[in-house]
Amino acid sequence: MARGRFITIEGGEGAGKTTQLRRLLARLQREGHEVVATREPGGSPGAESIRELVLNGSADRWSAVTETLLMYAARRDHIERVIRPALERGAWVICDRFADSTLAYQGAAGGADIRLIESLEFHVLEDTRPDLTLVFDIPSHLGLERAHARAGGEMRFESKGIEFHERLREGFLNIAEGDPKRCAVIDARGTVDQVESEVWATVADRLPVHA
Ligand code: TMP
Repeated sequence: MARGRFITIEGGEGAGKTTQLRRLLARLQREGHEVVATREPGGSPGAESIRELVLNGSADRWSAVTETLLMYAARRDHIERVIRPALERGAWVICDRFADSTLAYQGAAGGADIRLIESLEFHVLEDTRPDLTLVFDIPSHLGLERAHARAGGEMRFESKGIEFHERLREGFLNIAEGDPKRCAVIDARGTVDQVESEVWATVADRLPVHA
């Protein structure tokens, strides 16, 4: 059985990633693939416990370095228990956020040393790397407005200032620019249907979607 494909969806707050993930999941399933939809931080029982710790509480509850370590502890468990086994049995995996979120949130926006993050990436991911990363881009103020309007209350990162979110956006765009073979920037300002079309065109262009 050929290894499945690994797609990650990245971007700042309120970019509509989660809605699009559901639509992409449905389209890939219609093509006949087994698809595992998952998220970070979280995606396995242990990693979901770490998610509770890291996303709740005041904005300054954890330093950027501590957050990096928590994200990577969660990521390793998720990779070992969910992502790797799925890819090995030929399933496609779509993950709402992955390693680029640590580079952008804890690194570019939060100030954690990029060498620490790159070293964790090397040792923790090993060969479990995305085949395609969709970077959802939206002006920070628009994304924050959307995130605040959504039900479920404020999460720690939404309560950081606008400057944090500007650095975050730059961070994601720099990652995409530095790795154009893996990454595609998606304009997330459009309607849900417009963004869905752009996502599908990109995925179909880069990966063998027709099973
Ligand atoms: P969301 O995926 O629902 O937006 O929530 C996850 C939050 O966790 C979001 O604010 C970004 C943050 N996060 C990091 O700061 N670093 C990471 O490595 C990951 C995966 C998420």
